[in-house]
Amino acid sequence: MGEVDGLATYEALASSLPTCRGLGRAPYRIYGNFMYPAHLMASTLAMRDAFVARPTDVVLATMPKSGTTWLKALVFAVARRNHHAPDDARHPLLCFSPHDLVPFLHTLYESHRRPDPPSSRLEEEEMPPPRILAVHAPFSLLQASSVAESRCRIVYLCRDPKDVLVSFWHYIHKAAPPSSGAACSPPFPDAFELFCDGVSPFGPVWDHMAEYWKESVARPEEVMFLRYEHLKKDTVGSVKQLAEFLGCPFTVDEVARGVPEAVVALCSMDRMRSVKANRDGEHGVGWTFKNSAFFRKGEVGDWKELMTPEMARRIDAIVEEKLRGSGLSMIP
Ligand code: A3P
Repeated sequence: MGEVDGLATYEALASSLPTCRGLGRAPYRIYGNFMYPAHLMASTLAMRDAFVARPTDVVLATMPKSGTTWLKALVFAVARRNHHAPDDARHPLLCFSPHDLVPFLHTLYESHRRPDPPSSRLEEEEMPPPRILAVHAPFSLLQASSVAESRCRIVYLCRDPKDVLVSFWHYIHKAAPPSSGAACSPPFPDAFELFCDGVSPFGPVWDHMAEYWKESVARPEEVMFLRYEHLKKDTVGSVKQLAEFLGCPFTVDEVARGVPEAVVALCSMDRMRSVKANRDGEHGVGWTFKNSAFFRKGEVGDWKELMTPEMARRIDAIVEEKLRGSGLSMIP
């Protein structure tokens, strides 16, 4: 992996970009057609320029609150099952947060905040192939990095934007310890209006989805497009598809022994929530977030708690209008 030649350059570039109000207290930077949480802008740009992808890498891409933590756990359990049997009581997922096992790429470039050099966590000893990494960045940003060129596999997980917004709104209330100064959500109706205007971390949400969708249609062997709702409905089937896509399909013997079901059980909300690191740990550098906030309800349609049917219709109409012509629809 390439080292960043002075994060200061990226800090300077980031601070020269226009800002807009975010969904939380923190502002967003506008770069290209997307908006990024301001504190992640420099490291995201550094990652784009310095990360050297390998064809064997697996990159998980999501909008925040689309089920990233679940996807990280599932892919880790599937791809590493020959090293760690999913029914092993000492499985890494029972000791560490999925966010520690599958780091966000940009966090590795927050070198000014980290004691270890950016490259050290991506070395073979730390992360044997396939390296499993995550991004919230839009595909157009990855396109300008070595990820697209390497032809490594990308798994994109999307979710009903209404549930994404509600999940995010709860998250910024719950996640940040008061000392972090990171959070504080506006009242839900204000957050709703902002979201309808396209404001969300790494948003607009419709452009984020449409870019990865387009790529998955063009390169289905390299880019897999998943939906949270489908993952919930048929988790075992989705896990089998994931294994095939990753080039490590379950064998007949594994299926007979119930290994796909064991992966699903290991990564279930209840099991994950019971892990000490997920209950008590914190995540992030600089601004830290409670790991427990990544596990809330995990339901489809929880938007009904905060949105009226009219609000739902409005957001659905905006999303469908924005997605028109892309071939993607978020209406079930
Ligand atoms: P809710 O807030 O709707 O409950 P992310 O990981 O991208 O931050 O997304 C968090 C959302 O995924 C939360 O949704 C969370 O409850 C849900 N989630 C986390 N772990 C899950 C799991 N094992 N199964 C299903 N949903 C999960």
